[in-house]
Amino acid sequence: MTTSSTSPITRVYVSRDSAATSVGANEVADALVLAAAAAGVDLHVVRTGTRGMLWLEPLVEVETPAGRVGYGPVSPADVDGLVAAGMLDGVLDGAGGHTTARDHPSYLGLVEDLPWMRDQQRICLARVGVTDPVSTTDYEAHGGLAGLRHALSLDPQQVVAEVTDSGLRGRGGAGFPAGIKWKTVADTPGELKFVCCNADEGDSGTFADRMVMEGDPFALLEGMTIAGYAVGASEGYIYLRSEYPDAAHALKEAIDAARAAGWLGADVLGSGYTFDIHLRIGAGAYICGEETSMLESLEGKRGMVRAKPPIPAITGLFGKPTVVNNVLTLVSVPTILAEGGTKYAELGVDRSRGTQVFQLAGNIARGGAFETAFGISLEKLVHEYGGGTRTGRPLRAVQVGGPLGQYIPADKLDIPTDYEAFAAADAMLGHGGITVFDDTVDMAHMARFAMEFCAEESCGKCTPCRVGSIRGVETIDKIVGGVDPDGNLALLNDLCELMTDGSLCAMGGLTPNPVRSALLHFPEDFTPGVHDRKEAAR
Ligand SMILES: Cc1cc2nc3c(=O)[nH]c(=O)nc-3n(C[C@H](O)[C@H](O)[C@H](O)COP(=O)(O)O)c2cc1C
Ligand code: SF4
Repeated sequence: MTTSSTSPITRVYVSRDSAATSVGANEVADALVLAAAAAGVDLHVVRTGTRGMLWLEPLVEVETPAGRVGYGPVSPADVDGLVAAGMLDGVLDGAGGHTTARDHPSYLGLVEDLPWMRDQQRICLARVGVTDPVSTTDYEAHGGLAGLRHALSLDPQQVVAEVTDSGLRGRGGAGFPAGIKWKTVADTPGELKFVCCNADEGDSGTFADRMVMEGDPFALLEGMTIAGYAVGASEGYIYLRSEYPDAAHALKEAIDAARAAGWLGADVLGSGYTFDIHLRIGAGAYICGEETSMLESLEGKRGMVRAKPPIPAITGLFGKPTVVNNVLTLVSVPTILAEGGTKYAELGVDRSRGTQVFQLAGNIARGGAFETAFGISLEKLVHEYGGGTRTGRPLRAVQVGGPLGQYIPADKLDIPTDYEAFAAADAMLGHGGITVFDDTVDMAHMARFAMEFCAEESCGKCTPCRVGSIRGVETIDKIVGGVDPDGNLALLNDLCELMTDGSLCAMGGLTPNPVRSALLHFPEDFTPGVHDRKEAAR
């Protein structure tokens, strides 16, 4: 989007991420082009990913000699006034004497100096919100391909060793060490091996995978190519949830561009190594995020969980050795190879090394993605960066790790974000989703929802999950309805134990987490009549 004149080009950045376009970023970009043309300004609007400060979208960034100056949230109706006030002059503080745009309520100053941006350690998000997501030139100019080039100069075993040294653990939820998984695939003989990226991202309150795929898709392709080289795979598949059409679009564009540039295909970067990536779209089932179910779905079958062993690393897609990793796991890899595994391992605490992209969602004042080294406390993320609840009411509970994660009460948030510390606090980090609830939440209702969700999303293969979740809904209804509360509470606890111990996969096995934590921390909500009183108070 460029208007023409003889004046120097002004460059502005507006996100094309679906979170930004859902609140009007496209209309703001169009309004900027029109306003610039009317003002005779030669404007280039670069459509980037989002910075992850979702409460500020649509965010407009104007390039200045001092850096990018932000305005947000900007509505299309704001644009004419901002341009007339000198927004496009490229002056940071009005030193030229004519810029009054900084007096506009949306004026933010230098984006990189905002506490939310300044305090992050962005590895997965390094280019997200900065570059044009599908420009190969922009990607290389901002450090892209350095990891792959280095990997291709090493033996595959050395690449696996770098990933092992980094301490990288799977970001999809289970936190399994990536290096061990890759070594298993590398050590398993086979002519045909695969790398499958799990981009199903079904957890409630999570969006980091989507943000990266929309905002920096080449990073995922690079990570997958490095994984393929390390384990001896020639093909990669991205399993993307159908609810992410914009990510699908960005990935398709990126795959085409990468093939055309020789980054994928018969001779990756002239190395002689062959690797290609295909995109497959799921059909909207939470269980298809479970890795064996995902493999079934990729093979064109119904998404049913496979019994393990055999593990996918040995018998995976079409029975071949397969790396299955989450988007964030794979997107961390190019930096690990570019800068070294031990450098990456300097970030984090204990056995949680590197960074996590925390996603702040639910009833939160400042929702968005915040990438930092493991170890930061949940309290700090929720209160300092998230700003507490959006409603301004007292915070009551936080659920971390998606719909199967425990509810943590407001006075117990001082837990370091570390897999083991969370486990010791009877919680789980999962994919880094943090969902906040204020004091109007009805925790018996949330416990019921967990059982209902499991009943809806269960693949149906094993009885504790398929039948247990339906019985769970009925039992909670009886408890809150005042039908033999003590007897039914005992029954609910028994049911939770059975589901934990007897389910074939973590879907049924972890559903008791939210239920038990609600019972433990908020028993008062399970007394008859509370639901009606909460509804009335809303
Ligand atoms: C019910 C269920 C849903 C899951 N959904 C996802 C998902 O959406 N994305 C994901 O990466 N992992 C998901 N997982 C975890 C995967 O089974 C697997 O552990 C992961 O993809 C491995 O990659 P990682 O080691 O990089 O985390 C899910 C697991 C279960 C039990
Ligand atoms: S626990 Fe649930 S989702 Fe997992 S295999 Fe059993 S029925 Fe399927």
